[in-house]
Amino acid sequence: DPTGKVVFRAVEYDGTRFPAIIFGNIANQLRELNGMTFKESDVFVVAYPKSGTHWCYEIVAMLRNNSSELTKQSPPLIDRLPVEKLRQVSDGVRVSHLLPRHMPRDSIERRCKIIHIYRNPKDVAVSYFNFLKKTKEGELIKDMKFDVFFQMFITDQLHRGSWIDYVKEWTDFKEENVEYPLLNICYENMKKDLRGHVKIIADFLEVKPSEELMDKIAHKCEFQTMSAFKHNNIPDSMCRITEVRDKHIMYRKGEVGDWKNWLTVAQSEALDERIQARNLPLEIHYS
Ligand code: A3P
Repeated sequence: DPTGKVVFRAVEYDGTRFPAIIFGNIANQLRELNGMTFKESDVFVVAYPKSGTHWCYEIVAMLRNNSSELTKQSPPLIDRLPVEKLRQVSDGVRVSHLLPRHMPRDSIERRCKIIHIYRNPKDVAVSYFNFLKKTKEGELIKDMKFDVFFQMFITDQLHRGSWIDYVKEWTDFKEENVEYPLLNICYENMKKDLRGHVKIIADFLEVKPSEELMDKIAHKCEFQTMSAFKHNNIPDSMCRITEVRDKHIMYRKGEVGDWKNWLTVAQSEALDERIQARNLPLEIHYS
């Protein structure tokens, strides 16, 4: 299909889209997730894909473990792994691409801390395009031009649904639940001041690392350090989604503003208009 519709096999459910390849039966999967129980101390990192999920996850995991060791495995994605596997995760840090209304009820009732990281959607689109091309599924889109992909991104046809809906639902959740322990983090701000954000996240998690440890964590999470480590430690789960064995495809450039090398003025403005029309309460950072 030249429009790519067949390529991004998605399942529509409850007003949003899920990647068919990951989920199987969405209703069953969400029901199972909803039946799970959590601890008050569990922390969730939530994000639209390609917004810095792994970056944020690593900082949270280090702060929680009082260490400066990067993880060797991929984070446990709550909406991807079979429920049984998820239960075995011991450190209580979970990652999710779910909308707030699909989060397991128990996690919200227990007021588990949530960190939502968001990123300029133009860079998200570029990152997503480059990422998908390197996955096994990407074989199917190897000839797709960025123009076609971008059009699908802004018309909400990708298999992860709409970026605007995602970010809007999470920010609305916070507005409607002002007291809920949810922290919004902006990728571009974290890029500008990584050390400062390690402290912001530590305060939010109510942990008290030494200044020295926070310095080390910030150093380990700089793009160059982190991507070099990850390229040398490719988890099995990554090999299942990629044909590119010599690289960890989650770490590409880690830059702000790469979109300027990809989007035309018209494409950029088309996305701006859509965002303005939805009145997002967040500041979107364009470099
Ligand atoms: P790029 O493709 O623009 O490089 P996610 O983890 O949500 O899938 O997001 C992946 C994006 O975050 C990729 O963007 C990746 O390079 C970037 N990223 C990962 N680690 C990073 C870091 N330490 N600093 C900055 N960006 C990082």
